[in-house]
Amino acid sequence: MQKELNKIAKDTNIFLKRFIKKQKKSELIIPMKYGLFSGGKKIRSKILIDIGSIFNLDYKSLIILGAAVECIHAYSLIHDDLPCMDNDSIRRGKPSTHIKYGESTAVLAGNSLLTMAFEILSHQGLKISEKEKINLINEISASSGHCGIAGGQYLDLSYEHKKVSKKKIIEMEIKKTGKLFSFCCTAPLILKKKSKKEIKKFEDIGSDIGLLFQVADDLIDHKGSFLIAGKKTGKDKKKGKATLISLLGYKNTIKYANNLIAKINSKIKEYGSRSHNLSKTLDYILSRKK
Ligand code: IPE
Ligand code: IPE
Ligand code: MG
Ligand code: MG
Ligand code: MG
Repeated sequence: MQKELNKIAKDTNIFLKRFIKKQKKSELIIPMKYGLFSGGKKIRSKILIDIGSIFNLDYKSLIILGAAVECIHAYSLIHDDLPCMDNDSIRRGKPSTHIKYGESTAVLAGNSLLTMAFEILSHQGLKISEKEKINLINEISASSGHCGIAGGQYLDLSYEHKKVSKKKIIEMEIKKTGKLFSFCCTAPLILKKKSKKEIKKFEDIGSDIGLLFQVADDLIDHKGSFLIAGKKTGKDKKKGKATLISLLGYKNTIKYANNLIAKINSKIKEYGSRSHNLSKTLDYILSRKK
């Protein structure tokens, strides 16, 4: 798995470096690159490639879509670490962007990474029709806005130190993390002009994968190691974050995550051996230590 992730990271970074190089210069490029190239597993791009390979999409286009997703992801992490949000000073084993460059610069670099995703999806080098580009931009915008990452982050912060129901925790985790995974799961089907019904099926699979990913992240915070994770652990409890662990306990949360994997696997089994890579990625998501 690590080898595959490394290759995806390398190809994504090559694309992004070239893309940035072609743009006009600005003072924000350095903090943007810091947020973008400071590591990161590129798991969202891996999901795009796993789903894309079920539907025979070419690797190069998937890397470009993944690059757009990684820009949005990097933006969300820069803002997530700000003092007004999770107030974290270490990310990927290095000082968070606002620690290194200051808060206002981090906010602006984050904004610029978000909009860079739209520049990537609309640029000439992505060889898909204008209509499909508009569809993708429409989807990725919805995944990032008030019903996606931003809305989920709002709920995450407003639930601190409150008793929150399981349903609401799941809704919050799907918004802050799941929606971007839904984009990764539906973008290949949009490009292949699949039916609305099949696209909806993959949107739900994406929500489940994103929820699984966030639950695994919460488990790492609960029991993981700072040195391996590259970010401080044990913070969710201190900050009174509403997580499934705080509600159900550690063991039941692991059971919940395993049931999620079984649920996703049962939904993709009709694709036979073409779904094996995705299944392996699901196991990796839950067993990873960082
Ligand atoms: C961390 O995401 C934030 C969550 C949504 C849980 P990742 O664990 O994908 O972060 P990197 O990119 O690998 O550092
Ligand atoms: C972040 O969730 C989700 C985002 C959309 C950025 P967390 O706050 O749990 O992520 P980490 O643990 O700081 O990486
Ligand atoms: Mg957070
Ligand atoms: Mg955080
Ligand atoms: Mg976390």
